[in-house]
Amino acid sequence: MKVAILGMGSVGKGLMQVISERDLGLVVTAVADSRSAIMDRDGISIDEVLEAKRLRGYCGDTSLSAMDVVTKGTYDVLVEVTPTNALTGEPGLSHILAALDRGRHVVTSNKGPIAREYERLRRCAAEKGVLLRYEATVGGAIPIIHTLEQGLAGNRVLAIFGVLNGTCNYILCRMAAEGLSYEQALLEAREMGYAEADPTYDVKGIDPAIKLVILANTFWKKPVQLEDVEVTGIDMLTNDALRLAEEQDCTIRLIAEAIPDRGILRVAPRLLPLSHPLVVDGTLNAITIETDMAGEITLIGKGAGSVETASAIIGDLLYIRDFHEGRHKKTP
Ligand code: HSE
Repeated sequence: MKVAILGMGSVGKGLMQVISERDLGLVVTAVADSRSAIMDRDGISIDEVLEAKRLRGYCGDTSLSAMDVVTKGTYDVLVEVTPTNALTGEPGLSHILAALDRGRHVVTSNKGPIAREYERLRRCAAEKGVLLRYEATVGGAIPIIHTLEQGLAGNRVLAIFGVLNGTCNYILCRMAAEGLSYEQALLEAREMGYAEADPTYDVKGIDPAIKLVILANTFWKKPVQLEDVEVTGIDMLTNDALRLAEEQDCTIRLIAEAIPDRGILRVAPRLLPLSHPLVVDGTLNAITIETDMAGEITLIGKGAGSVETASAIIGDLLYIRDFHEGRHKKTP
């Protein structure tokens, strides 16, 4: 199966590394970064492209763009891993729409387009009979979308509660354990490279709200938007609040919750007992799904990282490969 990759940040590079190391039946026929692109219908040398990027700062021919790859490249699946723009979804949104319009499958880690235009993208994919997979947008390596769509198929999802932002979780852990100020803890989190380019997206709760919208759209019949989420971040939280929580054998976590029957879509700091399953350490993410048949299921794992995100993308690519080769009989 031929794959075109847009985006050579840590996710794109991590993915290319994994594809070159493992025999997954995937041939990379095009790659683009923000300044250039390279295409070869028979497959490009991933090692050479990674080396070119490392030495020159761009991957290919500067007269070619990501949109050239989308509209003229030879590929079965487009992997869209350009940076997220939560307000417009661009340029990822245009890339994804153009690929779907050409009748190509799409895999993305780009939260902006999926949160902003899920219904439109889903409809476009369905009309063209192709798949749109976005496991890597929520929870990093945690297979939450597969779990909701395949593992828990036939269940009614009653509620979802989650720690969906590693940066906030790290800050809260460091403030509680070491008595670090909010500013010091944020500085550490930024140095670890988990925070968004603009970390106010993390600490004001916008990033986990975007992920909640993606989850809600996946399991809730009603399409929802970022504006439907009631959001409170952790930027006003004090060390005193965490100390008071600890005196009651509790702590504070930024929890995203979706409860369809009560119309609740909310991100807010919550007081939780230290033994609660969602009280996870450091940059981990955790998601509890409450269902009618399976009861309660909690998934815990790494919510970000280059290879961890590549794991989610590869899972989607191999799902599509099976579909492409006719192993999934049902229509998308
Ligand atoms: N800034 C995000 C986080 C990265 O801290 O969870 C993963 O989406």
